[in-house]
Amino acid sequence: MGGSMGVKRLVPLGILISGRGSNMEALIIAQREGRLSADIRVVISNKADAKGLEKASSYGIETLVISHKDYQTREDFDRALADALETRGVEYVALAGFMRVLTPVFLSRFPMRVLNIHPALLPSFKGVHAQRQALEYGAKVTGCTVHFVDEGVDSGPIIAQVPVFIRDDDTEETLSARILEYEHKIYPLALEAVLTGKIRVEGRRVLGFSLEGLF
Ligand code: GRF
Repeated sequence: MGGSMGVKRLVPLGILISGRGSNMEALIIAQREGRLSADIRVVISNKADAKGLEKASSYGIETLVISHKDYQTREDFDRALADALETRGVEYVALAGFMRVLTPVFLSRFPMRVLNIHPALLPSFKGVHAQRQALEYGAKVTGCTVHFVDEGVDSGPIIAQVPVFIRDDDTEETLSARILEYEHKIYPLALEAVLTGKIRVEGRRVLGFSLEGLF
């Protein structure tokens, strides 16, 4: 094919993890299959033993450990993270099971360019163990949310959500597994909408992208 037809820009992306990295892998696979217009430059973990690191390496992606324990303040850690990403030309950042709260020192370097996936329908059940929180509360529906990251905990503008019914016989494990299937589906879709400029943000509302009818 000649000219610029069919040539799409791949946006330099960094992924931050702390553990298993299954959402990270879903993004990598989507990228490999042409469903994500990203050039995944680096995967960074704040934990040296994160399983996702080996997974990322197996795809030939550069990995880095930046431990929060090596820094005296959150801000110092955030500066080191942002420096490492910027050095690699990263423009957008996807948090994928990254268990640290980012400060304005980091977020001001990537304004409205940091996304996260959370295993609940925000604003319900913020923070850790969201699936357990939903079960213990007695909710009948929970789900997952892709959102922009702001200075709060799981509080930024919502890009996409999918509901998951809670069953009488659910345990934290069975519920988490069902939610995770949808996480892996909606994270690449929502990130792609952001990277390709399909969305617009009006205050808290993210417009121009919908999953309606897909699930
Ligand atoms: C996922 O449930 C995600 O929603 C939450 O942490 C978990 C990470 O799992 N933020 P993984 O590392 O992506 O497998």
